[in-house]
Amino acid sequence: SDSDPLQDFCVGDLKASPSINGFPCKSSVSAADFFFSGLAVPLNTSNRNGVAVAAANVLTFPGLNTLGLSMNNVEFAPGGVNPPHSHPRATEAGVVIEGSVFVGFLTTNNTLFSKVIHAGEMFVVPRGLVHFQWNVGKGKARLITSFNSQLPGSAVLPTTLFGSMPEIPNAVLTKTFRTDDATVNNLKSKFAV
Ligand code: GLV
Ligand code: MN
Repeated sequence: SDSDPLQDFCVGDLKASPSINGFPCKSSVSAADFFFSGLAVPLNTSNRNGVAVAAANVLTFPGLNTLGLSMNNVEFAPGGVNPPHSHPRATEAGVVIEGSVFVGFLTTNNTLFSKVIHAGEMFVVPRGLVHFQWNVGKGKARLITSFNSQLPGSAVLPTTLFGSMPEIPNAVLTKTFRTDDATVNNLKSKFAV
């Protein structure tokens, strides 16, 4: 859903000041600008969520500048969860490369659409909707996801709500979640940056 390109390509000059919507074009371009190996790098999933993401977006792969798309490699330990998040600037399409994954998104009416899918099967998440994935197989799992934006953005609900800098006041969170300061402080302590 990014705007249409007005030329064949415009490899992003990330050092230029981002005074435009996207990046100015690099003046000298070669084949290397259109290839990226970052999704092939095995990821370390030994963390609390059991998930790791490598992004091929305009910031890591400047050749994508103005082309309106990007991709991620998402790897899961057994039981790993990619927590609920949303992409403000893109619809997401994904394919399971390895394993069995419970994939779900929520409509703005709070209906959950979900399914367990396996290697080779695909899913889609409409732009902006909250979604998550959970590795329900016995072994590792891996997804490749793609986005119709060079920089889809990701609002990760737990870190947005409990790990922001500065913090959201407890008065807001205790009322929002109908709970007490101790519970909110406990959650904040787990997402502090
Ligand atoms: C998965 O939801 C991803 O954003 O890569
Ligand atoms: Mn996503």
